Order: sequence, then C-alpha cells, then structure tokens
Amino acid sequence: MKGNQKDSSGVSMYRPGGKLMIWLILFTSVTYIIYTLKIVSTSRACQYLTFSETILQQRPQKKATTTASAAEAVAGEHEATDLNHVVFGIAASSKLWKKRKEYIKIWYKPKKMRGYVWLDKEVTDAGDHENLPPIRISGDTSSFPYANKKGSRSAIRLSRIVSETLKHLDSDSRESVRWFVMGDDDTVFVTDNLIRVLRKYDHGQMYYIGSLSESHLQNIFFSYGMAYGGGGFAISYPLAVALSKIQDRCIQRYPALYGSDDRIQACMAELGVPLTKEQGFHQYDVYGNLFGLLAAHPVTPFVSMHHLDVVEPIFPNMTRVRSIKKLTTPMKLDSAGLLQQSICYDKYKSWTVSVSWGYAIQVFRGSFSPREMEMPSRTFLNWYKKADYTAYTFNTRPVSRNPCQKPFVFYMSGAKFDKQLNTTVSEYTRHRVPHPACRWEMTNPGGINTIVVYKKPDPHLWDRSPRRNCCRVLQTKRNNTLWINVGVCRAGEVTEVK
Ligand SMILES: *[C@@H]1O[C@H](CO)[C@@H](O)[C@H](O)[C@H]1NC(C)=O
Ligand SMILES: *[C@@H]1O[C@H](CO)[C@@H](O)[C@H](O)[C@H]1NC(C)=O
Ligand SMILES: *[C@@H]1O[C@H](CO)[C@@H](O)[C@H](O)[C@H]1NC(C)=O
Repeated sequence: MKGNQKDSSGVSMYRPGGKLMIWLILFTSVTYIIYTLKIVSTSRACQYLTFSETILQQRPQKKATTTASAAEAVAGEHEATDLNHVVFGIAASSKLWKKRKEYIKIWYKPKKMRGYVWLDKEVTDAGDHENLPPIRISGDTSSFPYANKKGSRSAIRLSRIVSETLKHLDSDSRESVRWFVMGDDDTVFVTDNLIRVLRKYDHGQMYYIGSLSESHLQNIFFSYGMAYGGGGFAISYPLAVALSKIQDRCIQRYPALYGSDDRIQACMAELGVPLTKEQGFHQYDVYGNLFGLLAAHPVTPFVSMHHLDVVEPIFPNMTRVRSIKKLTTPMKLDSAGLLQQSICYDKYKSWTVSVSWGYAIQVFRGSFSPREMEMPSRTFLNWYKKADYTAYTFNTRPVSRNPCQKPFVFYMSGAKFDKQLNTTVSEYTRHRVPHPACRWEMTNPGGINTIVVYKKPDPHLWDRSPRRNCCRVLQTKRNNTLWINVGVCRAGEVTEVK
C-alpha cells in the first residue's frame, strides 16, 4: 500500500492528519493576529516617544534594509562593500594644494573611486585634474563662532565636509553610498585595506571608525574618544545623515575647540556614537623616522598614513613622494600583507630576523623574543618634544641596548610576481651605515647584501582571525644573500626563541 501514499491524494488518505492541520492553521493565524496587534501598538508608541529627528530618520532606512521587496534592492544591499560604496572627502587648502596633491595622486584612482577635495577657494588648474578628485569649494562659515587662539577657523569649514558632501550627492549616489571616508590632503590610503576594514561593519548602522594619536598627551588634550582626522576616518551613511541634521547647531556650541576632528567628535558625543577603533588608521603624530612604527606594525590591515611632510622620507635617499610611491609596488602584489611583520631566527648564525613585508627587514645579532620584536623601536620622536618615551600610547623599545645589537636594516628595493614559482618575490638591499665595533663571536650580518623574500599573496588574510605570519630562513651556501619564506604559520609552527 506504500505506492498509494505516493501517487494519489495523500491528504484524503490521512483524514486525522487533516484535522490536525486545521488546528495548526487556526493556531498560527491567532498567534499572527496577536503579534501584528502588538507590533502596531508598539510602533505607535515609538512614534509618540520620538526623542529626536535622528531616530525617525533611522526608521525608514532600517525597514528598507530588512523588508525590501524588490529582489534587486536586496541583492544590491547584500553585495559586499567595495570602493564604489565609498565617497572620500579630502580636507585641503588652496595654500598647500600644489604640494599636497602629489600625495593624493599616489592613492586616488579617478576611474574606481568617488570623492571630492574641499578647498577654501579656487585654484588654477595645473592640467592634472584628471588624476585627482574633483574640487569643491566649502560653504561660507564666517557666521560660526571660533574662539581657539592657537587654531585656525578653517577647522569649521573642514568639519562640515561630511554634511556638505552628503548635501551634494544626487539621488542615485545616495542609494549606493555606504561610507563617507575623510582624510587630509597629506593622508595616503591603502584603499584595499580600507575596504577590508569597512566590510567588517554593517553600513546600515551608525559607525564612526578611526584611530587615536600615537601621543598620549595629544589624546589627553583632544580626546581618547576621537578619530584623528589626518589618519582618516569613516562614517556610515545613517550616521552621516544624523550628523548633518545637527551639525550646524552643534558646531555653535563648541567655539573653543581647536580643529575639525574634535568638532566632529563633539557632535558624535551628542549623538552618543562612540569611536570604533581600528589600529590601521595612522595619524602619525611623531617626528623623525617612522621606521620603528613601520617595521613593527600591529597585526591589523595597514589602512593609512599621515604627516608625511613632517617625518623623514620612509625610504632613505629619496623624496617623500617617491618613497611613498615605492610602497605601491608591493601594495599591488599583496595589499593585505603590506607592512605585516613576521619574526624568525637563523639558528646556525644566531640571528633574529624581523620582516616588514614590502618595506624593510632587520637582522639582529642574538635572539630577541617575539614580544620584544613586536614593539616599535624608537626611531621617531614624540610630538611634544619635551615628552619622552613614557608619553606614547603603546609600548616601544630602544633601537638597541648594546652596540652589538644595532640592527642591520635592509630596505625593499624591488618586488614582482614570479609566475613560475606562483609567488611574490621581493628583494631588500642593505642600508649601508656605520656600525659600532662588536666583539661577539658570531657571524657578522654586515656580510649580507641582499635578502630575498618569497611570499604567496594572501588576499583573505583578514577574513581569518588575526595572526602574525611566520617566516623561515632558508639555508643556502651563498654568504652574501639571505633567502626567507613568509606565509601562514603551519600547524604547530611557533616563533620560539632559538
Ligand atoms: C643617493 O642617491 C643618489 C642618486 O640616486 C646616489 O648617487 C647616492 O649614492 C645615494 N646615496 C646613498 C647614501 O645611497
Ligand atoms: C597559485 O597559488 C594559489 C594559492 O596561493 C593557488 O590557488 C593557485 O592555484 C596557484 N596556481 C598555480 C598555477 O599553481
Ligand atoms: C662563504 O664563507 C666561507 C667562510 O667565510 C668561505 O669559506 C666560503 O668560500 C664562502 N662561500 C662563498 C660562496 O663565497
């Protein structure tokens, strides 16, 4: 009789089941009606309880994301965040434009990105506008109070960039924009990594993402809850809308603040939205040489750098702009791995090797633990010249504690993808500087001229839990070259001090 069940009316064969079905339907309908009533009553209550325009503004936005009926809209909404969902707002001034635009040209791709440079007044076109974001002139802010004796009133103009950008977007753009990303004219973004960071967050919610200053005193004077503007920060669309509604009133309440980013933070505090800290945004409130910071980057995507006119060029014997351009070669090969540190040992020679992929390698005599190598060496100076090493917001270490431990530094001199080996090959050349005499009985790393690093591109590095890559010194007979492999740590592979 099993055949019967399959072909003809299964329903009529199981009358008792049918009855159960009717009960079930009845039960479901009643539950549904009760719930609907409840929703109607609570949503009405919400309207009576409206606290501010902001909350109202949020509602339709949220509904659209959760119950959008058009399949197309849903598909667009679930599409992973990419560069076409971002609008950049670049804070600039006509006075420095000629010089600073060179930094923007390094990272901005007009065909792939959207954004505007906000200036105080028109500048003469030098014929290079095709490589730059279009220029907009900020609205008049002379009616806003500004009472900070040290700062400049341009801060007000710059703090309004998000609101002004939002106001200028046409309706098509409004639908596709998820994030507003702010930066200065001397901020350089690694946009692939910016996207990797933004993808972690729901653009339909209110997010204010950025990072602090390296200087403890700066954070005390400004705020430990503020995204420093030069490092760049991101504001999600709903938050930009909420901000733009209150900003002009909000700015009036804080005439004594110094800059544009503290004004933004003051308004964020009014909205109750805290800073979501992402360590890859770099304000770089330091002087001197960034080397220590770039050679020991935290295990997080490298998103931005700033104050490039203040610090020394990141590669020696090169202009500032050229030295940043040089980083774009490894950036194109493996942006996720750019400036990521890995630590390993040459156990035969008793050396410690620290790789900052795409930038530099340090070779030390003797063994340093990973917890020491992870700390940036103090090649840079505090933003407050009188402040010493106790005034950073992270641990640092001296460049060397012993003359023998002065690192041998190798700067990236070239990088390419080797199709046959199916891996990137980057080369690092020794920076020739005098080294103090050392009487340790140990091979002198000064004999090495070149280091070659093999590393497979790993675009999904940041889709996994954060973990430092492992490196391995490959043993060869050549005396003046070191070969190193960098990649995901194998099962059970640990950086053990040798
Ligand atoms: C700096 O660069 C110039 C020109 O490229 C070169 O002649 C000079 O030797 C370099 N100096 C050092 C210390 O590398
Ligand atoms: C190259 O390596 C990647 C992984 O890094 C792998 O997915 C790909 O199949 C490899 N290609 C060849 C030709 O071996
Ligand atoms: C490497 O150094 C050792 C000892 O210093 C020497 O005997 C050997 O010939 C060198 N090898 C090469 C390839 O230069």
